[in-house]
Amino acid sequence: MNNLLKTLNKASSHLTILNKKYPTSGKTNVTPNIINHVGLNLHNNKNSPIYTIRELIENSFDSASYRKFDKYNTFEPVVTVKKNFDDLGFPADHVGRSKSDTYYVNNTHLLRTHTSAHEVECFEALSNCNDHQDPTKSSLVNGHGYLISADVYRRDEIDKTHYPVFHQMEGTKTWTRMNPETQKVMLEEIETMDGLMKKNFPSLTVEDKDYVRDDDKHENSKQEYMTKEETSLVVKHMKKSLELAVATLLKHRYDHDALKDKSFKNPEIKMRWIEAYFPWTKPSFELEIYYNNEWLEVLGCGVTRNSVFKNAGMESENQIGWAFGIGLDRLAMLLYNIKDIRLLWSKDKRFTSQFEGRTGEIFEFKPFSTYAITTRDVSFYKTKEMNPNDVMEIVRDEANTWCYSCELIDEFHNKKVDKTSNTYRISYQNLERNITNEEINAINDKVVDRLVAEFEIEPRL
Ligand code: DAH
Repeated sequence: MNNLLKTLNKASSHLTILNKKYPTSGKTNVTPNIINHVGLNLHNNKNSPIYTIRELIENSFDSASYRKFDKYNTFEPVVTVKKNFDDLGFPADHVGRSKSDTYYVNNTHLLRTHTSAHEVECFEALSNCNDHQDPTKSSLVNGHGYLISADVYRRDEIDKTHYPVFHQMEGTKTWTRMNPETQKVMLEEIETMDGLMKKNFPSLTVEDKDYVRDDDKHENSKQEYMTKEETSLVVKHMKKSLELAVATLLKHRYDHDALKDKSFKNPEIKMRWIEAYFPWTKPSFELEIYYNNEWLEVLGCGVTRNSVFKNAGMESENQIGWAFGIGLDRLAMLLYNIKDIRLLWSKDKRFTSQFEGRTGEIFEFKPFSTYAITTRDVSFYKTKEMNPNDVMEIVRDEANTWCYSCELIDEFHNKKVDKTSNTYRISYQNLERNITNEEINAINDKVVDRLVAEFEIEPRL
């Protein structure tokens, strides 16, 4: 780790991300390790499985739409707190805003925690786009959508499915209510999607309890300004579009398997919709798929709230639509059978050579031999409030990709000394070579030193 850089950043009043200088503040908690990931843009790298997942989803959306979606794939990750949270209606005390969950550049700027941060500016662009069907109503947007893919950043736990940087795709489609064509176009697109589903995925079953509440007071009801019929139609269009996108990915994988093995039979695909809550959509849902014998959450979505259109300066009462957000890394892991999320970032030839020149294909990743995992338990008494994510961050900063996982395995209050003890189990592993005990001890000692320096812990030996 570059300790010099770390010290410089701590001491200096500015930090630089993508050639832009930002003043730091007491809120700053981005680390050099995180900044080193900015600009790697795996979603734009043709040799990354994340690129293929993005492209296949984009194609699926365009395949059933009268009008192609606008694509945004190069938004920079530093955004304002306003864009990431305020414009989307996040309450002031929402946990997502806390320093233990989010990487702050300073009081006003952060590394976006989700692609939803760009919704408002993309709606602005949509409504300013002057090629809409009805030029007399240029502020109304009919049947036009966008897809945004980008790297997002979260302070999170450390394990084989979590990495502080990952990729999401955001998407939206929106219609004007005044246009007599709207309903017809929506119904036709739904029919096209139904046709594609029946033809390509005859074995797909979707469980859907159709949660659209009648009661406008329910937090997940329809919105007041929309009718029940409009809400149902938007929800139906959204669900079909998303089912088709996810099924298309699965089909790519199964078609590949069938080509290799003539006796291969498509497993039964199951999906289910569950109710959810997001501050910028109402009603909101999550889609889960049944894959390898378990239900997995793959995306969040909902009917765009009127307030979001309003924040984008649109004629909000006349606009209706849906929005979704999907994580690309976990889908890539699932579909290629990549067991450790760190591999997505690996420059090891044994990983990269399997993907070079294979853009657009989904296949079984061949695991290569991995090296030993060595654990160290770190036990201490806390002397002040600390969040497990603070410990994770120090581990991540010192061990970088050499850390396989880190978990709080024990917590108890010692009445005699009136102190709380924590034990964290840190598992070290380098994906590319064996590491020696001396190397691990050196990193682990640094972790403990920093916990002492930054949180005044009392190590228990
Ligand atoms: N931004 C959400 C997340 O990171 C995902 C999401 C959910 C995006 C619902 C949406 C949406 O646009 O409507 O978990």
